[in-house]
Amino acid sequence: MGDLKKMTDWEKLGKLIDDSSMNDKSVDVSEQSLFDHLNARVKGQDDILKDVARLVSLSWKRKDRNRPVCSLLLLGPTGTGKTELAKALAEHLYGSEKDMLRFDCSELSSPDMAKSRLTGSSSGFVGSENGGQLTRPMFANPKRLVLFDEIEKAHPLVFDLLLQLRGDGRLTEQSSGKTADFTQSIVVLTSNAIADEVAKATAGMKDYHEILNAIKTLLAEQKIFRPEILGRIDKVYQFKPLKGMVIAEIATMKIAKLGKEYGLEVDFVAPELIIQALEANLKVSKFGIRELERIIFDLFAPSLADLRDKRAKAVSFDVNDAGKIVCRQRG
Ligand SMILES: Nc1ncnc2c1ncn2[C@@H]1O[C@H](COP(=O)(O)OP(=O)(O)OP(=O)(O)O)[C@@H](O)[C@H]1O
Ligand SMILES: [Mg+2]
Repeated sequence: MGDLKKMTDWEKLGKLIDDSSMNDKSVDVSEQSLFDHLNARVKGQDDILKDVARLVSLSWKRKDRNRPVCSLLLLGPTGTGKTELAKALAEHLYGSEKDMLRFDCSELSSPDMAKSRLTGSSSGFVGSENGGQLTRPMFANPKRLVLFDEIEKAHPLVFDLLLQLRGDGRLTEQSSGKTADFTQSIVVLTSNAIADEVAKATAGMKDYHEILNAIKTLLAEQKIFRPEILGRIDKVYQFKPLKGMVIAEIATMKIAKLGKEYGLEVDFVAPELIIQALEANLKVSKFGIRELERIIFDLFAPSLADLRDKRAKAVSFDVNDAGKIVCRQRG
């Protein structure tokens, strides 16, 4: 073997590594910066965002960790920002929401699927060379957020793996026997299974610990989680249903985002148009805002596409007396 010391310019490489995106230093994990980032994407859940920012900031800076940065359980009705919060965390902490590994637990409901999907098939079995869809990406990059959606549908084996992962920050791949490191990861579990029951049981409660206790009791009663699992989750959050004004704000954000996708700055949107979108949304989905994006697309994309063809840079959306869109272009 040659002399490693001469194989490259180590000093220069050191400087390059210091400057590169590989380095943690580029991530601002102060509570304020975390909150600001989360708040730019998730609306109407300020108490949760504040607490998450505080918790993540504190645990991230803790160097001697033998478990994930934190493990969170997000509960609450559909379309209230649970997955959005996970994406926002991944984006800020790990550079991109693509660094999020997402598992749909309805696909992990049998013991075989749970084990082979997550930690790979036993060696010798079909597919064992591919490894686990949880472990393999962690080998390549352990800086990730791992999301388990609809956790109540997971087979108990998934919980066993989670316990192991949370317990010592590691998980061994069945097929290769190699160990994946989870000490730089964040684990997020989500569920909207008992949203109604939780809302009822906690109605009128103000104190966080009182709410948490009520939720834990309910989760245990409904046999959704074994007590030892709950004991190993750092925080449980209950997402609130979104109020009209918050949904309006989200709609406005989505219009701005759609504009960007057509290369256009949206300067202004008349409130009448936002209300049109919200009312259309209410008609098709009484709960949540899953349809909002499609409705906004139907309403604004034709004008945006047209203005793009005309090489406009920015647009204002007004209404005429008949309630129809009137566009004014700029640039
Ligand atoms: N509080 C919120 N702030 C901003 N956007 C939101 C919020 N809640 C929902 N959205 C928007 O609605 C869409 C669905 O939200 P999200 O995926 O976070 O729902 P969820 O709470 O995970 O629901 P489910 O339980 O059905 O998975 C996202 O595209 C997101 O942009
Ligand atoms: Mg979700």
